[in-house]
Amino acid sequence: MALVHSAHSFDAFRALADRHGRPGERLVESLAEARATTGDGPESWAPAVAARAGLPAAAALGPAGYYADLAAPHGNRHVRVCAATACFAAAGGGHLAEVERELGVAAHTASPQGEVSLQAVRCVGYCYAGPAALDGTTPCTGASLTAQLTGREAPRAPVIPVADDTGDPVLLSGLLSGESAWRVWSRTLSSGTPEEVHREVAASGLRGRGGAGFRVAAKWEAAGRAPGTVVVANGDEGDPGSYADRLLMEADPGHVLEGLALACFACGARQGTVLVRSEYPAALARMREAVRQAYAEGHLGPSVHGTATSLDIHIAEGAGSYVAGEETALIAGLEGGRGCARPRPPYPTERGLWNAPTVVNNVETLAAVPWIVEHGGRSYARRGTPDETGTKLVCLSERFVRPGCYEVELGTPVRRIVTELGGGLKDGAELMALQVGGPLGGFLAPDALDVPLSEAGLSGRGAALGHAGLVAFDERVTPEEVLRHVWEFAAAESCGACSPC
Ligand SMILES: Cc1cc2nc3c(=O)[nH]c(=O)nc-3n(C[C@H](O)[C@H](O)[C@H](O)COP(=O)(O)O)c2cc1C
Ligand code: FES
Repeated sequence: MALVHSAHSFDAFRALADRHGRPGERLVESLAEARATTGDGPESWAPAVAARAGLPAAAALGPAGYYADLAAPHGNRHVRVCAATACFAAAGGGHLAEVERELGVAAHTASPQGEVSLQAVRCVGYCYAGPAALDGTTPCTGASLTAQLTGREAPRAPVIPVADDTGDPVLLSGLLSGESAWRVWSRTLSSGTPEEVHREVAASGLRGRGGAGFRVAAKWEAAGRAPGTVVVANGDEGDPGSYADRLLMEADPGHVLEGLALACFACGARQGTVLVRSEYPAALARMREAVRQAYAEGHLGPSVHGTATSLDIHIAEGAGSYVAGEETALIAGLEGGRGCARPRPPYPTERGLWNAPTVVNNVETLAAVPWIVEHGGRSYARRGTPDETGTKLVCLSERFVRPGCYEVELGTPVRRIVTELGGGLKDGAELMALQVGGPLGGFLAPDALDVPLSEAGLSGRGAALGHAGLVAFDERVTPEEVLRHVWEFAAAESCGACSPC
């Protein structure tokens, strides 16, 4: 059994859980099941879950009190209303109070008899159609949100509008060109090598799309094909305003899994995990079904397609909380702990999940890999800018005339995306500010849009590429309200360990 601590980073709960058979995400799942049946606080149900796993009460009370889904009281009917940026911009911030009034229950409480409970959450991936909510797992969106939640209107949730601006889509090739998944994987297994996959990804210049923009080949190299390596696809998509990962996981889950399989192959990993945020119930169902189908078709399992390669992939469900998308916090969550960031070094590629070398890549990053392996890294490197190659999905929020998810070359002028693809703002409204790259990104003023969509271009203007969510604000909200909204988000979502991030 691997040691789960070093002189620098002893974690008593992690060591204890390791000794008790690594209940890991099963612990969080069991907590979620226990939570679903009661409106009482965690102290009344979490200790019993811990006891069943052979752990002390604190090992369950920690995550139960930390993750938003577990901490929030649940009634028989649980409604999650998005209180995040794009919905705030769409409804001027008033929709949550309206829902509270109409349902007769305050946010983060359950009604006295437990019929209904309300949770304010930060993004459910319908930023193009907000304000949005999940009634159980049923999405409701738009100006008539309250009427939908009170049964006066049927639930309404338009599919994500999608378009390609590149003429040769990479990420949308499955969706728009009908290219089926798993072809590249089958071919690679029969006639390719891990080194070839790694070489093509290195030649492509692909950088991570989860926010930090780290070179993918360098991260894979850092894990060094060490025994026991695992690869985790990060589908937490915590940045309000981004729904690109939701699109990929729901509309083209096969290519996401194929990208993860190729990453595992290149890194010598026999285990892959996809973490999907709990606010994406449809993505969770689609990904689980796609994994089941991949096993049935022989793309996963022992001796895949009769080769020496064995690979298992499973889907894990998040439990709310923005920081839990940060890679060390995500790993802590997969181990059944609170989703708090851990100091680095050691980096996950050296000591990650249960101390195994762990490569964490964003879902969109991995979805580009099959195309790169098929067409060659150099073809990919010819796209975008010389230092930031390739294409990116950008997500335009509800305030745009044509909100939706667009595939663009990196380096495309932001003004072009806003005016030509997005069509400017609805009802002839004036743009007051454009948030780019989520809460850790920044704002562009309307006269500062002549900047290329790239990390270098945006960071020079005090913004960041992040996951490339573009949230437009108009006169429905004041600049002071926007800033208060952003700081409330940061205050509520901080795990209190900011230096590791
Ligand atoms: C507070 C915080 C939240 C993050 N949330 C996400 C997230 O939701 N999804 C994601 O892919 N990366 C997120 N990241 C970045 C991850 O830590 C990590 O860099 C990324 O998943 C690596 O994948 P990539 O190299 O393919 O980008 C977050 C980082 C921080 C600091
Ligand atoms: S659904 Fe509300 S911000 Fe994304």
